[in-house]
Amino acid sequence: MKTHIYFSLVFFLFSVAQGLNPKCETQDHGSNLQVFHIYSPCSPFKPSKPLSWEEDVLQTQAKDQARLQYLSSLVAKKSVVPIASGRQIVQSPTYIVRANIGTPPQTLLMAMDTSNDAAWIPCTGCLGCSSTVFDNAKSTTFQSLGCQAPQCKQVQNPSCDGSGNTCIFNMTYGGSTIAANLSQDTFTLANDSVSSYTFGCLQKTTGNSVPPQGLLGLGRGPLSLLSQTQDLYQATFSYCLPNFRSANFSGSLRLGPVGQPVRIKYTPLLKNPRRPSLYFVNLIGIRVGNKVVDIPPSAIAFNPTTGAGTIIDSGTVFTRLVEPAYVAVRDEFRRRVKVANVTSLGGFDTCYTVPIVAPTITFMFTSMNVTLPQDNLLIHSTAGSITCLAMASAPDNVNSVLNVIANMQQQNHRILFDVPNSRLGVARELCT
Ligand SMILES: *[C@@H]1O[C@H](CO)[C@@H](O)[C@H](O)[C@H]1NC(C)=O
Ligand SMILES: *[C@@H]1O[C@H](CO)[C@@H](O)[C@H](O)[C@H]1NC(C)=O
Ligand SMILES: *[C@@H]1O[C@H](CO)[C@@H](O)[C@H](O)[C@H]1NC(C)=O
Ligand SMILES: *[C@@H]1O[C@H](CO)[C@@H](O)[C@H](O)[C@H]1NC(C)=O
Ligand SMILES: *[C@@H]1O[C@H](CO)[C@@H](O)[C@H](O)[C@H]1NC(C)=O
Ligand SMILES: *[C@@H]1O[C@H](CO)[C@@H](O)[C@H](O)[C@H]1NC(C)=O
Repeated sequence: MKTHIYFSLVFFLFSVAQGLNPKCETQDHGSNLQVFHIYSPCSPFKPSKPLSWEEDVLQTQAKDQARLQYLSSLVAKKSVVPIASGRQIVQSPTYIVRANIGTPPQTLLMAMDTSNDAAWIPCTGCLGCSSTVFDNAKSTTFQSLGCQAPQCKQVQNPSCDGSGNTCIFNMTYGGSTIAANLSQDTFTLANDSVSSYTFGCLQKTTGNSVPPQGLLGLGRGPLSLLSQTQDLYQATFSYCLPNFRSANFSGSLRLGPVGQPVRIKYTPLLKNPRRPSLYFVNLIGIRVGNKVVDIPPSAIAFNPTTGAGTIIDSGTVFTRLVEPAYVAVRDEFRRRVKVANVTSLGGFDTCYTVPIVAPTITFMFTSMNVTLPQDNLLIHSTAGSITCLAMASAPDNVNSVLNVIANMQQQNHRILFDVPNSRLGVARELCT
């Protein structure tokens, strides 16, 4: 009892400081939402005591490792998968957007995740949730869904609460488990209101992977934002992710077909029945400078039976390639940099302690080549004393068949997901 009061107090103290920095409180307009990096000066989630650059990189790599294992575990018809790592790793996605939920609206800063379907938010009484919660009792439009609701068949591990006929589901997310009541309320994103939006009202979480104010699933499966707003947004959205080093930090999430770029290159968007929530594309080769490197085709081939292939993910930070692909890219990169003294930093094995001139790297997809400049390829320590190629090989302790094009490599590009036309667009854009 005492513990309960203590925790409530802690939650209260947290909740007063859990909005955006007031300087950043500009309104979202039309169907455009500002996107913030979780460590942006605008974000309430930036660490109060900044980490050193090296610690930050090592921690990000550890989170990526956990996310890779999680993404690999997202196999159809297989739900609760234990995560191998013994350590608790905070693995939440990197970018947040503002959502208004309920009537009158309550604002939450939800993490956007292109590799997950359902949305879920912390609700009153949630055990293990760490911050601001949605007070469902204060919303006149909130309702719980019963076990007979068709949506109850679309969530993982549904069960029925004996007394209350509430549809309850649980799942793992990264290193966490969550249990939630399936619920509905009005979601307002920028100027668009969606009534009876179905989401999980978190009742219990364990571990550290749950984003503090919930998750907005932008995946392609049932109950995702795309599935629930088919009429409004026609399963079309784009984002531009800001570089976390830039001063102003905000990018944009643009929902629906209106206002999307017309001058943009496309590659087919593929659906892999083994991993149905993820956005697959067909990577056919990689060029370093002007040389197409030698990669065994099997390392990057799209395979609907095994679930292998290449995905675009908003939540992984550094691109991971299966080992033979990474080694081919890295060796050619090193050859071109021509600096003999290569050092490593954590999982990065191609770092330099002298200034370098790096080649570009081009991802060659079916009918679309994307050439990345240095800003998307290199990370530099704060003091400028070390520079690393910001990619790594996929962890070899998971069934390494996924190449993940991660968010650092997407920064300052507009990435357009056009599901009705089964295509993914990429164009350079300075995100502001
Ligand atoms: C969005 O809503 C705001 C406030 O309600 C209003 O001032 C603005 O004109 C709207 N913008 C668009 C593009 O509909
Ligand atoms: C969730 O469901 C349980 C069991 O029916 C119920 O006791 C609890 O009040 C519900 N919470 C919310 C926020 O709906
Ligand atoms: C999740 O639900 C399943 C089936 O109802 C149950 O067996 C399992 O113990 C639950 N797990 C958690 C972590 O609540
Ligand atoms: C973003 O940049 C503009 C123009 O330079 C400035 O007025 C504004 O205060 C900046 N915002 C933040 C959050 O730093
Ligand atoms: C290579 O780099 C390491 C780490 O900075 C340094 O200790 C070593 O002296 C360098 N070796 C040469 C030959 O430059
Ligand atoms: C991509 O680059 C390769 C190698 O330089 C080239 O052969 C191919 O035509 C390019 N594809 C497109 C769509 O531009």
